[in-house]
Amino acid sequence: MEKNGGGERMVCVTGAGGFVASWLIKLLLSSDYTVHGTVRTDPCDPKYEHLKQLDKASEKLKLFKADLLDYDSVSAAVKGCIGVFHVASPVPSASVSNPEVELMEPAVKGTLNVLKACSEAKVERVVYVSSVASIMMNPNWPTDQVKDENCWSDKEFCKRTDNWYCASKTEAELEAFEYSKRNGLDVVSVCPTLVLGPMMQSTANASSLVLIKLLKEGYESTENKLRIIVDVRDLTGALLMVFEKPEAEGRYICASHHIRVRELVDKLTSIYPSYNYPKSLVETTDGDDVSSEKLQKLGWNYRPLEETLVDSVESYKKLGLLGWRYSIGM
Ligand SMILES: NC(=O)c1ccc[n+]([C@@H]2O[C@H](COP(=O)([O-])OP(=O)(O)OC[C@H]3O[C@@H](n4cnc5c(N)ncnc54)[C@H](OP(=O)(O)O)[C@@H]3O)[C@@H](O)[C@H]2O)c1
Repeated sequence: MEKNGGGERMVCVTGAGGFVASWLIKLLLSSDYTVHGTVRTDPCDPKYEHLKQLDKASEKLKLFKADLLDYDSVSAAVKGCIGVFHVASPVPSASVSNPEVELMEPAVKGTLNVLKACSEAKVERVVYVSSVASIMMNPNWPTDQVKDENCWSDKEFCKRTDNWYCASKTEAELEAFEYSKRNGLDVVSVCPTLVLGPMMQSTANASSLVLIKLLKEGYESTENKLRIIVDVRDLTGALLMVFEKPEAEGRYICASHHIRVRELVDKLTSIYPSYNYPKSLVETTDGDDVSSEKLQKLGWNYRPLEETLVDSVESYKKLGLLGWRYSIGM
């Protein structure tokens, strides 16, 4: 995408302090963008210190206090931007007591607020970070067919089966494309699988907790599920790619490594033998798979899984997230 006739290239990233957004901001600053990041608490909060330490942050990063449900606060951050990366959305690591209020509203109304602000600011393209949660939960998809961008989760099925996060991402993405059609706003979405990789922020997000728990929880038994993993740095590369390539359109599944928990534990054990891994694994019949062929055709590629795992574990060690027993020499 041509940016402002060669002038300042200003973009907005919502949910700036989160796992994915922090890495995206790092990539955008290093690619010479000026970034407006939205955060929910005071931008001076020490939890955003990692963003302020980034190269070029002092000149090119400005944090705005904004809640997705407060239109004016979102609009102030989007004003003057040529692009918006809408990353913010609640990602709970456990079930929530009031899913309509805690998940659906911020995801759906929040997305519509962001899109409305984008129309008002005449933003050239919005990249919406969705999830394979909006693809996977479709009981009517043929079982012998790998799920691709044509497959949508059935949001009523998600709600009935208590998969409220999936419902929130499905409805938000559907609404985003509806809005795009009605208002002529250019919206592209990226649907990542389980995102791992080194953490920049100090508090563990839901997907990093999946790996942290596998390393230290010592489960008596856990399911031998299929895990489809993408590195946060490869995901942010995809987000920038779909923003910059004019030919990008519609949805893009972003998935790299397809691995069962047993194989994942074996891999981790060969590098880090002394963690508190699950004691036994229970076989499951789940095996839903997705394909990132469309994103790869656009030019995306990804790093080896071993690199993601080692960099993740090293970052958890540095942040003290694996407990004192594991902090030295592992
Ligand atoms: N990580 C994954 O495996 C994965 C996979 C697929 C899709 N995704 C998507 O990727 C995006 C980022 O996820 P993440 O893994 O980086 O999670 P994260 O670290 O929890 O980040 C989520 C961000 O959203 C913000 N947020 C939540 N509710 C908000 C509200 N009402 N107003 C303003 N901001 C709000 C959070 O702000 P606070 O810091 O103030 O809470 C946080 O910055 C999400 O849209 C998620 O659905 C993630």
